[in-house]
Amino acid sequence: MSELLVTGGAGFIGSNFILYWLKKHPEDNIVNLDKLTYAGNLENLKEVEKNSHYRFIQGDISDPKIVDQAMAKTDIVVHFAAESHVDRSIMDPAPFVKTNVEGTYVLLQTALKHKIKRFHHIGTDEVFGHLELNSSELFNEQTPYNPRSPYAASKAASDHLVRAYYHTYNLPITISNCSNNFGPYHFPEKFIPLAITNLLENKKIPIYGDGLYVRDWLYVEDHCRAIDLILEKGKLGETYLVGGLTQDISNLEVAKKILKIMGKADTELEMIKDRPGHDRRYAIDWQKIKQELGWSPQHSFDQALEETIKWYQEHQQWWSRVKSGDYQTYYQKQYTR
Ligand code: NAD
Ligand code: DAU
Repeated sequence: MSELLVTGGAGFIGSNFILYWLKKHPEDNIVNLDKLTYAGNLENLKEVEKNSHYRFIQGDISDPKIVDQAMAKTDIVVHFAAESHVDRSIMDPAPFVKTNVEGTYVLLQTALKHKIKRFHHIGTDEVFGHLELNSSELFNEQTPYNPRSPYAASKAASDHLVRAYYHTYNLPITISNCSNNFGPYHFPEKFIPLAITNLLENKKIPIYGDGLYVRDWLYVEDHCRAIDLILEKGKLGETYLVGGLTQDISNLEVAKKILKIMGKADTELEMIKDRPGHDRRYAIDWQKIKQELGWSPQHSFDQALEETIKWYQEHQQWWSRVKSGDYQTYYQKQYTR
């Protein structure tokens, strides 16, 4: 039996991970430390809130006192907590530096003090910058860092800190850098859930620029399984890249698939002003984690997209609540630039 400290467990991937973990490893204990920013939502965890193996602490990862208390009995840290949306980092980088850089530093210091057995850090492929359209190049574990948004730069800094604690202090770390996740509980500021929920509200799908940007879509459950394997068999100090099964699908193509599944016409697309510094293409080579740990994605994009759309159709209350209040202010600011 182990005790896991999951940071950011009330967010999209963190909550999927906690639900996954308690099903797969019911004997383990999970402490979820989350500040509950606009992106944190305890409704995601209703299924486990009464589980005696699960405990929630509301707190900020950059607060050393609360982190110290939360880590008191921890064996393994799985660090998801972050400011995660590129567009918000363009509007205001400050919370990205505070949480993603300083928060990670506080966690690392505390992990050293408590002699944590494993510190797993959730990284992103955005730290590598972007690839050319129509090239066959892929990101791999040797790709040099070249972050291009305040979000990506703050995540790059956190990766570097985590690695530095391995080399300098022998903190037993692993890192995974993954591509764009999608699935249940995805906050509707991100492209896929925004597109689906806008259509459910009879609004259009906003497409930045020419829409020919490429992302490597990874179903969130496949990602959770990758983290599980890294915790079980990953080599200390190593980084693993995790990607999905899409092959250079553009945002326009993704939007058209969503329109088709939802029985809507292409007139529901709205081409709008581009994101500054918009990364053109992401694509992941996940051969290392396949060869060393036996992981590969199991969910085809088309099937997982259909399931995701169905989830949003069946969870209208969840996303309607999320899209009310402050979300409206953000939406106005972002989409009437
Ligand atoms: P999210 O925005 O949905 O959730 C982030 C969670 O962190 C929220 O619950 C929020 O309340 C919490 N949080 C934020 N600041 C905090 C702080 N200072 N202290 C404690 N908790 C805080 O994010 P997500 O999409 O679930 O991403 C999780 C992690 O995975 C992030 O590190 C992100 O960079 C990384 N990642 C995400 C994707 C993706 O496609 N979503 C892809 C690659 C990597
Ligand atoms: O690659 C991993 C990253 O994926 C994670 O590290 C980030 O946390 C996560 O937010 C995501 O970043 P992206 O910027 O790629 O995701 P987003 O959903 O914001 O955008 C996906 C693509 O869709 C991107 O090319 C921008 C475009 N887009 C996005 C929105 C919100 C639109 O065309 N219209 C939109 O309204």
